[in-house]
Amino acid sequence: MSAKWLADAVFYEIYPQTFRDSNGDGIGDLQGIIEKLDYVKSLGCNALWLNPCYDSPFKDAGYDVRDYKKVAPRYGTNEDLRELFQQAHARGIHVLLDLVPGHTSEEHPWFQKSAEEQPNDLWDRYIWTDSAFTGGDGMSFIGGEYAKNATYIINFFKCQPALNYGYADRRQPWQQAVDAPGPMATREAMKDVMRFWMEMGCDGFRVDMADSLVKNDGNNKPETMKVWQDITSTLRREFPDMALVSEWNRPELSLNCGFDMDFFLEWHGNGYSSLLRDYERNGAGQITTPDNSYFKLDSDRDMSHFLEDYLPKYEATKDKGLWCPITCNHDTARIAPLLNDRERRLAFAFLFTLPGAPFLYYGDEIGMRYRWLPSKEGGYQRTGSRTPMQWNREKNMGFSEAEAEKLYLPVDPAEDAPDVESQQKDAGSFLSYVRQLIQLRHDHPALQNYSPFTVYAGASGSRMFAYKRGDYLLAVNPGREAAQLTLDGTYTVIYTVGEPQLAGNQVMMPSQSFVVLKPQK
Ligand code: GLC
Ligand code: CA
Repeated sequence: MSAKWLADAVFYEIYPQTFRDSNGDGIGDLQGIIEKLDYVKSLGCNALWLNPCYDSPFKDAGYDVRDYKKVAPRYGTNEDLRELFQQAHARGIHVLLDLVPGHTSEEHPWFQKSAEEQPNDLWDRYIWTDSAFTGGDGMSFIGGEYAKNATYIINFFKCQPALNYGYADRRQPWQQAVDAPGPMATREAMKDVMRFWMEMGCDGFRVDMADSLVKNDGNNKPETMKVWQDITSTLRREFPDMALVSEWNRPELSLNCGFDMDFFLEWHGNGYSSLLRDYERNGAGQITTPDNSYFKLDSDRDMSHFLEDYLPKYEATKDKGLWCPITCNHDTARIAPLLNDRERRLAFAFLFTLPGAPFLYYGDEIGMRYRWLPSKEGGYQRTGSRTPMQWNREKNMGFSEAEAEKLYLPVDPAEDAPDVESQQKDAGSFLSYVRQLIQLRHDHPALQNYSPFTVYAGASGSRMFAYKRGDYLLAVNPGREAAQLTLDGTYTVIYTVGEPQLAGNQVMMPSQSFVVLKPQK
């Protein structure tokens, strides 16, 4: 059973590095986030996900944790984080931290001890082979760095050695069983980390690379799932209102592991990417073709590609938890500027009226733009989605008092770069629009997280798509041609983009329009 607060949760993802710098050192921090909690609340968001804010050498932006129980000094102290939990709660906002359970930094003291020449209590905390000349059995491995006569497996970058949760299929003598003492101790250590923050007032976790724990676990991850079932059931007994969202994008697996939520991830060619980011990239991640995503005015797509991916997984999991739409995340290119204001309005209308708890990535509510930037902290092509939040038209767009060259990343230099303050004054701005959409969701239980989704019309062969949430009827027409929607009952129009016209049992949906219809009882 998931916590009740998830039924109407709308999340806001904050990248702590670049949200708000409170002390003028050029990098965002926890006090900066506290300063902006009223803003988060004003959006209608009632939950936060913070990217990792733990002590780290930051070779992968903090996904290389050096101390799981210590806030990185550049963000503040554990006391600041405790204060953030309290201040958020006082405003009805729940806070998820980012849990990175699969790997640590190579600078983590566990790893340093695990790498010693002589056996010790942490020798099996990571996955080590049996000699300095042994390969990784299909996984990336590093050798020659430490006194220990072994190589070790990495999960992502070189700086991220894999914690040892054991192997499902053991093909080499150094591959340990899932229930061997080393892997069991790793699991307990991770429960201990979760407890530490939960006791301080955190409300749960976004779980990084949740599928990565047990190795040689096939496509369907049965042993990884069992490990999660153990971890989640143990913690949930202690903290019944805890919420967990997995970075997995396979709800048919994750929602059976005790995760309350999974979220969409942009994988090239999947249903979600066909909606918002349908283009080719070169090896370096640069976009090389025009965007043909569904919400582009002149796209030739219908909704079928999204639905083929979405519907089977949604149907299989809708009673188990939430599969959550995202506007973007710190690994994904923002949809502005490739989608213009009107196209983004329609895209957001759809995302914010789907089931699942929506996740709004900081800055997307004002249309912050992706741009190509030199890599920072292992960001590479992701860096351009991690730039400073644009608060106003003052120095550094209100992000920081530091000199521009000291900023973590440069602010958007464009003359017309969007900002919060200007958009707040404008009832027609994108920001005002996003607030309306979120408010609409809060006002109508039929549009909230668990309310059912069914296809009504236009599943294929049509630019217009119509769907039901509970007994509400919604339609979006992102294309150039007007389209006609035939109703199955009597409705009142409660929200529109463009000017859909209701006449009898028909709604005329002009080019680039959206409508929400509520049944008349
Ligand atoms: C996840 C994170 C990403 C990070 C990687 C390794 O995909 O979202 O930012 O680089 O895991 O931890
Ligand atoms: Ca700072």
